[in-house]
Amino acid sequence: STRGPMTGKRVLVTAGPTVEAIDPVRYIANRSSGKQGYAIAAALRNLGADVTLVTGPSSEKPPAGVNLVRVESARQMMAASEKALPVDCAVCCAAVADYRPSIETDRKIKKERGGLTDLPLTENPDILKTISQMKEGRPRLVIGFAAETDDVLGHAEAKMARKKCDWIVANDVSPGEHCAMGGERNTVILITEKGDETWPEMSKADVARELASRIAQTLRGPTLV
Ligand code: C5P
Repeated sequence: STRGPMTGKRVLVTAGPTVEAIDPVRYIANRSSGKQGYAIAAALRNLGADVTLVTGPSSEKPPAGVNLVRVESARQMMAASEKALPVDCAVCCAAVADYRPSIETDRKIKKERGGLTDLPLTENPDILKTISQMKEGRPRLVIGFAAETDDVLGHAEAKMARKKCDWIVANDVSPGEHCAMGGERNTVILITEKGDETWPEMSKADVARELASRIAQTLRGPTLV
């Protein structure tokens, strides 16, 4: 495998959407493609890191040379992420569904049997928040993403404070010509303890390489755990 500044470092990357079953044939999901997370996993691997990529359903080709764990629901993503610990760095890129249907049924919901016109929801576990607030064995660097359509910086800073992650990569996902969600390109603001930096519009692969290099700089030196 590749040697580099991240050799000997373990990283968890979550990516893609989660899908939350309503019944055996229906689900709630979102428009995340998994592209940005896959690119980050590949970039970290290229720097020598031992990467576990926990991904919801995505049609992207998974990067070679990473430990790939495919999941569907938020609860499965949480369990797979916890299994990947301890890590030096966690990058929570996945668009995890905030809620899942409260109903659990092995049978297809049938209109003829009364159907379903209301969909009660239950809150999902928050992977980023859980890892950020670990009392023991917390990764040295926990990075979250914030997809926003307005007041990108304001919402992202509030999110960072609420979740207690170290960095936030914020992006504008307003629909439009260069929409980040599903698209190839991204314009991000990186927020760290030192402040915020707006990066120029670039490909998701370039965002990934830049972020991976910043992670490597921050984690440089011997692993303490
Ligand atoms: O505010 P929101 O929950 O959308 O914040 C998004 C960030 O939190 C992303 O980094 C996402 O991966 C993470 N997240 C998570 N688990 C959840 C919800 C969000 O890890 N259940």
